[in-house]
Amino acid sequence: MLKVIGVQKIYGETKAVDHVDMHIKKDRCTALIGPNGAGKTTLLSIITGLGKPDKGKVILSGKHQDRREVLGYLPQFPRFYDWMTGREYVRYAGELFGLTRKEADRRAEELLAMTGLEESGSKRIAGYSGGMKQRLGIAQALINRPELLILDEPVSALDPFGRREVIELLKKLKKDTAILFSTHVLGDAEQVSDDIYMMKEGRIILESTLAELKQNYALPVFLIETKDGIEELAEAFRNQPWVKEVELEAGRIRIQAVNMEEGRAGVLQLLKDKNALYTKVEAETVSLEDVFMQVMSG
Ligand SMILES: Nc1ncnc2c1ncn2[C@@H]1O[C@H](COP(=O)(O)OP(=O)(O)O)[C@@H](O)[C@H]1O
Ligand SMILES: [Mg+2]
Repeated sequence: MLKVIGVQKIYGETKAVDHVDMHIKKDRCTALIGPNGAGKTTLLSIITGLGKPDKGKVILSGKHQDRREVLGYLPQFPRFYDWMTGREYVRYAGELFGLTRKEADRRAEELLAMTGLEESGSKRIAGYSGGMKQRLGIAQALINRPELLILDEPVSALDPFGRREVIELLKKLKKDTAILFSTHVLGDAEQVSDDIYMMKEGRIILESTLAELKQNYALPVFLIETKDGIEELAEAFRNQPWVKEVELEAGRIRIQAVNMEEGRAGVLQLLKDKNALYTKVEAETVSLEDVFMQVMSG
């Protein structure tokens, strides 16, 4: 639904965004992941149309030409009027957007309900928690029923409770709206996103679906739990030619194989040969954080 083509932005000596191409798809939640200073905020502001690129362009597919009609945006550091109530704030956003007073009222009620702020809508924003403020910011960004919701670091500044609130909200919203959000909180990105872009020093250094990423970066590591004979079994694994490393940790054997195929076959064969009384055998899953570390250091 949106394409970024060869976008570049330079501040003095810094290439904040360096020839970036992206394809944001409908019905997908896309995470833009990168360390501080990677260029995420600059890129997102160019995508929204608030920032102008030095080179390249952003194209909306379909009949829409005006990005303001299609996009909703929550900046990294939103400004709230602390003396307003949540309800007043969303109504105000609606009126700014050009809704009539009545429409703005109605839409505000819908959005407060959608973001779980019905109860606290009549409280002043000054008394809101971080998670509540972020949800209010999301309500504001949804005022025009956008097809693509763009959120710049919506969870990064929050405590674990606030993060959970926002992530649960995103899970709900992604059913109806495409989402593009930046983050460096990888565990959270892992829970909601379908597509991943990793950014470093202005460039996209990896682009993948989350599922493919996990498959491609999976390590050939297997975990075995057993009731007894764990030392013996570990020793037997150590002597296999396809085994690289064996560790005993917290009552289980962790085996690193030379590759996935030989590992999988070898583990099952040896368990059978030894008549091992195992209680659990599984391949270790790779986390987005593991992948991120590999990609960023590579
Ligand atoms: N308005 C600006 N003027 C000068 N340099 C900027 C400006 N905005 C961002 N930068 C620089 O561009 C780079 C990318 O910044 P930013 O887009 O904020 O990254 P991120 O959001 O990933 O932390 C950084 O080196 C930052 O210092
Ligand atoms: Mg930023």
